[in-house]
Amino acid sequence: MTTAARAGAEEDVQRRIPDVPSLVAALDRNNYLADVGLATALFLAVRLPQPILLEGEAGVGKTEAAKALAELLDTPLYRLQCYEGIDAGEALYEWNHPRQLLGIRLAEAGGAAVTETDLFAPQYLLRRPLLQALEHPGPRPAVLLLDEIDRADAEFEAFTFELLAEAAVTIPELGTIRATHPPIVVLTSNRTRDLHDALTRRCLYHWIDYPGPDRIAEIVRRRVPASSGPLALQAAAAITRVRTLDLAKPPGISEAIDWVSALAVLGVQSIDPGTAEQTWGTIVKNRDDLELVGSRGAAWLVEGTDGQG
Ligand SMILES: Nc1ncnc2c1ncn2[C@@H]1O[C@H](COP(=O)(O)OP(=O)(O)OP(=O)(O)O)[C@@H](O)[C@H]1O
Ligand SMILES: [Mg+2]
Repeated sequence: MTTAARAGAEEDVQRRIPDVPSLVAALDRNNYLADVGLATALFLAVRLPQPILLEGEAGVGKTEAAKALAELLDTPLYRLQCYEGIDAGEALYEWNHPRQLLGIRLAEAGGAAVTETDLFAPQYLLRRPLLQALEHPGPRPAVLLLDEIDRADAEFEAFTFELLAEAAVTIPELGTIRATHPPIVVLTSNRTRDLHDALTRRCLYHWIDYPGPDRIAEIVRRRVPASSGPLALQAAAAITRVRTLDLAKPPGISEAIDWVSALAVLGVQSIDPGTAEQTWGTIVKNRDDLELVGSRGAAWLVEGTDGQG
């Protein structure tokens, strides 16, 4: 039964994503623009299947890639946002102590005896993303996003991996829960530290490069339909220029989207140095960076010239 269900799901996924170009097109329909390199990596992650580790600078679309994948497969996305000190209780499951206490009180009030088995029953289990992804009933596998795994401790990383390799978890009071449809796993990292060998060994890897101005403009057009095409390209070119400065927080795709959204709200059709100066709080978010951009000048930002002719 389990094997049949899994084979059916595989066929279904295969029909939805028969090859890399179909995946590029399906991502595109979900407003996610991927180049062939990224699409191939995602394709393999789904079809092998094997977890994929996506690395790249802030805002290059790591998190969004997992969301788009879940959308195009029409399957749930379970997201675990990692942070320092995250533990199994946050990731996998916890017992709902307040509800258990309430259960005891209610039973006592009704004069009934409560056994341990009553209290450690599935209705008192708080399911966290890893367990939800394992328990997902199908018809297709869920996408499990372990976002910013580099923020978690190395032990936690190892823990998630053993669990995912087994596609099963044992809850002492309930027994072993085995996934019918092992999830498609996407991990992201901003490289704040090196990841465990045990983890990288088990993953496919893809580094997402920062895109050029044309692609940034295309992404902006998708995300801010109210903006005019030339405005998006102008903003993308300016952002690309700003990124050549030695900024503490170089603006990314999100900032390009925010900037163009702001300009659209302001009714701006074309960026001139004056409007750039008024609005660069949407792209530069640090006092020192602001000074650096200011000293380079708005004319340079907008036109690539120093404004002196
Ligand atoms: N290839 C892309 N196609 C469409 N939108 C994109 C693409 N890349 C980035 N975006 C948009 O840029 C924004 C930032 O993307 P996302 O949050 O996925 O970045 P990230 O790499 O996860 O960044 P961080 O490291 O800060 O978490 C989102 O609004 C997303 O929609
Ligand atoms: Mg992210």
